[in-house]
Amino acid sequence: MENTVVSSWNDFDPLKHAIVGRADFTCIPPAEPATEAKIPEDSDMRGMWGPRPQQTVERANVQLNTLAALLESRGVRVDRPQPLQWNQAVMTPDFSTGSSFGCMPPRDVLLTVGKEILSAPMSFRCRFWEYLAYHSLMQKYFDEDTEFRWEQAPRPRLADEAYKAGYFEEITIEERLERTANLDFVTTEHEPLFDAADVLRIGKDLFCQHGLTTNRRGMQWLQRHYPAHRVHTVNFPGDPYPIHIDATFVPLRPGLVMNNPNRKLPEKQRKIFEANDWEIIDAAQPAHDSPPPLCYSSVWLSMNVLILDHNTVIVEASEVNQIEQLDALGFNVLPVEFRDAYPFGGGLHCATGDVLREGNCEDYFPKQVPGTQI
Ligand code: GLY
Repeated sequence: MENTVVSSWNDFDPLKHAIVGRADFTCIPPAEPATEAKIPEDSDMRGMWGPRPQQTVERANVQLNTLAALLESRGVRVDRPQPLQWNQAVMTPDFSTGSSFGCMPPRDVLLTVGKEILSAPMSFRCRFWEYLAYHSLMQKYFDEDTEFRWEQAPRPRLADEAYKAGYFEEITIEERLERTANLDFVTTEHEPLFDAADVLRIGKDLFCQHGLTTNRRGMQWLQRHYPAHRVHTVNFPGDPYPIHIDATFVPLRPGLVMNNPNRKLPEKQRKIFEANDWEIIDAAQPAHDSPPPLCYSSVWLSMNVLILDHNTVIVEASEVNQIEQLDALGFNVLPVEFRDAYPFGGGLHCATGDVLREGNCEDYFPKQVPGTQI
């Protein structure tokens, strides 16, 4: 096995080395300020917590292993995290909660920007220790790639001041949509918070979703941390639970991005894409009316695809509309069954993390538009 090289600047250049998550020991965490705001009122997960049923863990792991094997068959090197016993309570000087979450979605916590992999300051208390599942991989990359930058954003305290009290009282979906459109989210600006999956990497530009898991201070921290990049804030009215950008706004290749038609990028924020001749197309409708049982995510995991190169994409096998759309766009589509893994933290993009993609840090947006940068 050759030595590790860490480098990735976007989600579409040829993928050479990735991390694929594991479902072992995943828990439904007990209620806490940040998760209450995320779990829809009518979700079957309300009021439940504890380890997920073993049979569902095994089914999810079968699909995660199949994804790992498919990647390897395409010449992608694959690493896996080391699950912890996630059902242990989490206790810090500032808070305690009944359990952790899991390590199925590396995309949520690990942000790869060039030669750096950064653990994000996540807002869910149950995800405080999640980065530890990747510790031995990071150590290995550090030893093998002398230019690898092993980083961590400031660890958040996640005390009560980090959340708006009463945010999660029962409200109608219309009221919730009004709130999120007005950029009123559960986290306060007390400290920098972001999930890595809210950060869309397109070369020199990072587009961050301002939502339930990422605040403005988090984006400011990213801009100072990456001074050679341009950090833009984006939001998507129409999403009552805005968390993670990868079921909402997904670049397919240079110049082409698909947008969830129910969560359109506002006119003002589209200008930078238009000015640089990027086309924004509506994603195809999901094939399913509802997500699988005990799932945090929406049916829009249909567009949570994993791009292997500018012509090849992995799509969930039952998402026939999404497959048809990508096929018509000229992609070689590789279908893989993945719905059993969804409840453990998302779709194909969520379940993976970039270690190495070919390519360099390109400037895809040389014409900047005033007012979009943080
Ligand atoms: N934010 C992921 C979803 O649409 O469910």
